[in-house]
Amino acid sequence: MRFAARVDQLGGGSVRAWDIHNAGKEALARGQNVIVLSVGDPDFATPQAISDAAISALKNGDTHYTTVAGKHDLRKAIAAHQSRRTGLALHEDHVLIVAGAQNGLFSAAQCLFNPGDEVIVPEPAYLTYEATIGATGARMVRASAKRDGSFRPDLAALEAAVTSRTRGIMMANPGNPTGIVLNHAELEGIAAIAKKYDLWVISDEVYAELVFDGSFKSIASIEGMAERTVTIGSLSKSHAMTGWRIGWMIAPEALITHADHLALCSLYGLPGFIQNGAIQAIADLEHITPQMRDIYRARCGVLCDPLKAANNLKVLYPVSGMFALIDVRGTGLSAHDFAWGLFKAEGVSVLDASAFGPAADGYIRVAFTVSEDALADAAQRILRYARSLSA
Ligand SMILES: Cc1ncc(COP(=O)(O)O)c(C=O)c1O
Repeated sequence: MRFAARVDQLGGGSVRAWDIHNAGKEALARGQNVIVLSVGDPDFATPQAISDAAISALKNGDTHYTTVAGKHDLRKAIAAHQSRRTGLALHEDHVLIVAGAQNGLFSAAQCLFNPGDEVIVPEPAYLTYEATIGATGARMVRASAKRDGSFRPDLAALEAAVTSRTRGIMMANPGNPTGIVLNHAELEGIAAIAKKYDLWVISDEVYAELVFDGSFKSIASIEGMAERTVTIGSLSKSHAMTGWRIGWMIAPEALITHADHLALCSLYGLPGFIQNGAIQAIADLEHITPQMRDIYRARCGVLCDPLKAANNLKVLYPVSGMFALIDVRGTGLSAHDFAWGLFKAEGVSVLDASAFGPAADGYIRVAFTVSEDALADAAQRILRYARSLSA
């Protein structure tokens, strides 16, 4: 059988990174005493009012084709929310509704990059970026983070990665797996590089509502950036709605028009009742997201604080999101061996963070997507395993 050449760009390391997660899920399904900390899927139910809005739309017959770009009320609500955050005067024509942030990243990349182009990604980077960029025929170029253990972007390395083929920068802010939030100087620095070399910035902001102290700045709000930034968001993380597959792309109108054409020949619009749920979710955002944020902040402490007792582990405390990185190099094992050893000895599944890029070699990523009791249990298991290695 013959396949398109691009299929080679769709598999690779990031697909294999999930092996341990799949093993964890399978063990759980067999009823084994396993704690799965390897995925960013919140364990809460979607808030009731959101489900009710979707159910009521469904019952009332909202089961037909919808406008490809998304319902006007939803696009307006998202434009208004992003206008408040950035100070920009956005309207619905700046917004396209997509099937989750991942679909937004894919659509933006398809509309912006050509075969042979290069797209710089500050590492460690979210696992799907390489294939998302590769599917366009462009190439992901990693820009290493500062090598001081902070994982903050190294602006000099970022600029040094620019070549005549570079067309864009794709980044997650807040970061996954780091949980760091870019500060004003870093955003200004990245913006200056984008403007100097005429680059697009795809800013993946799926964790923007989950910054523990609540403060977050979008790169689009920096002078001269709105016209070269695609802001990607979704309800997956902020509202525990991963399975609803709904998100958005906010960009200059011309790009939204192209992405709308792409959606016409791919998605053909999202279910109307799902969009009604999303309208309710945006309306309730100020009420829902602070609760989620508080839960993740508390969970982070429950999992990470006990690990300070291990002299061969070092926790990189996040300031956002639902993950932490743990440096396991002190145990003498690679993160891959530590992750599998921990799984076999103690039944805790975590990810080897080197899948996010070489900067995270020697780190594992743990997710706070289970209850505080389970996290406290997981912390003791990780501690026990780490101590067994120092012994
Ligand atoms: C940084 C980042 N971007 C995008 C996604 C995908 O989000 P969605 O469910 O909205 O497609 C995730 C999910 O883990 C993520 O961590």
